[in-house]
Amino acid sequence: MKSEPLRLRMEGISKSFPGVQALKSARLDLRAGEVHALVGENGAGKSTLVKIMTGIYPDYGGLYEYEGEPVTFRSIAEAQHAGISIVHQELNMMGDLTVAQNIFIGRESTTFFVSDKELNRRAQELIDEFDIGVDPRTLLRDLSVGKAQMVEIARAMSFTQTRVLILDEPSAALSEGETADLLRKVEQMRARGVSVVYISHRMNEIMQITERVTVLRDGDYVATMDTASCTVDEIIRAMVGRDVDQAQKTTSQVPADAPIALSARGLTSARVTDVSFDLRRGEILGFAGLVGAGRTETMQILCGADRWGTGTIEVDGRPLTFTHPRQAINAGIAYLSEDRKRYGLVLNLSVTDNTVLASYDALSTGLVVHTKECRTVTQRYVDALKTKTPSVSQLVKNLSGGNQQKVVLAKWLLRDVSILIFDEPTRGIDIGARAEIYAMMRELVAQGKSIILVSSDLTEILHLSDRVVVMCEGRATGTLDIAEASQVTIMELATHHAQHSKESR
Ligand SMILES: Nc1ncnc2c1ncn2[C@@H]1O[C@H](COP(=O)(O)OP(=O)(O)OP(=O)(O)O)[C@@H](O)[C@H]1O
Ligand SMILES: [Mg+2]
Repeated sequence: MKSEPLRLRMEGISKSFPGVQALKSARLDLRAGEVHALVGENGAGKSTLVKIMTGIYPDYGGLYEYEGEPVTFRSIAEAQHAGISIVHQELNMMGDLTVAQNIFIGRESTTFFVSDKELNRRAQELIDEFDIGVDPRTLLRDLSVGKAQMVEIARAMSFTQTRVLILDEPSAALSEGETADLLRKVEQMRARGVSVVYISHRMNEIMQITERVTVLRDGDYVATMDTASCTVDEIIRAMVGRDVDQAQKTTSQVPADAPIALSARGLTSARVTDVSFDLRRGEILGFAGLVGAGRTETMQILCGADRWGTGTIEVDGRPLTFTHPRQAINAGIAYLSEDRKRYGLVLNLSVTDNTVLASYDALSTGLVVHTKECRTVTQRYVDALKTKTPSVSQLVKNLSGGNQQKVVLAKWLLRDVSILIFDEPTRGIDIGARAEIYAMMRELVAQGKSIILVSSDLTEILHLSDRVVVMCEGRATGTLDIAEASQVTIMELATHHAQHSKESR
């Protein structure tokens, strides 16, 4: 094994931005045809390291060797020419161009002389190969985040000269089915001798497809381990520097006769049929199901974001109808959308501005905003959630992906509401920071607030929920007490309908 030549080697890599030392002494080496996980907490420096690798940041300290030679890539084009492709954490495509145009952009040699028809035909081939199921003529901005991500991955994988492929949290916006497709594609790339860098916070994916794992902490190299001979707990300990409790909740502390904070009956819309449930005060009610089961759509009816939704909703025993999200907010319901990249943040504003954006009413008199108070409040949440930022005045666009998520969370936690709906709250958030967010949620319910938790992460559902509503194909197929809930009982209910309808076909 030892004599195998390295495809790429980075050592002692440092990089700073104004006020932030993103990397101190990072290290990573890649063998030919291996899948190598790069892990670490939010802000550890993963994205920065791979941006150096691909020529986005040409200024840095340290050693970078590619195919045995020292290199400095001055641009993405240079790195790509040498065979290094990247799929970024943030979507990086042109919304106003079609899927086909996006796939072939920057490949003038192929696009310049090629008709639209030919372009679409080639794109269709790729779309079929990746089983994405979109029309190549669709504008990119009309796709769901997951589909757009699949298009970007297909694009990066289609460069024939690719020898190193970097995927920066590729699965964060993908459904289970799409993720499974992606993992199969990664296997195929490996089989072709491509070296893959796989950045993810999802330990099961890492255990499944990687040969080795490199851990970064606070811009420093911690360790590189053989995946086959280490455990998830060992990886997490290397990332976080301590043990993290991931155990399942076994019994609910909420008394069965606790007052009902919210009651929903017969919620129905285009994609949801007759969903009913009660949320008790002080309870965390989990919503589990496969992607597309209708959980987000149910929440949208609940908070007035779906104009065509019907059904009855009672808050503290009072019947209410919401035709606009503002009415739900006034009734004390806050909805943290799953699509935060699009709706949650103003990237060119500071951490403070983003945090207090939704709470200006409470923090201002007339037109005067109490700046100092805003900063103090924001600092409190930065501390509580351990958001990594040099100060509360930092622009949000300069934070790492996971830390941006924490700002969105703070914004919603700050609102004084009694019912909070969290839709995939920890997507893209590292395991250590999750623990902080979980603690915050427990504190909220201890104060008498109630939480609905929509999550595709069963570990998270089982760790936090008092009861679990399981949905399948737009219907609630069952409600489980946490004492009877498990991966197996939930998955049975989550696929119940699907199996049933398949059998009857
Ligand atoms: N352009 C920039 N300007 C200023 N600071 C930056 C910039 N890019 C990154 N940083 C800072 O550098 C540190 C490392 O960020 P990076 O994006 O590499 O983290 P990451 O490991 O990818 O985290 P995540 O898991 O949240 O995506 C963070 O503290 C971040 O705030
Ligand atoms: Mg990142």
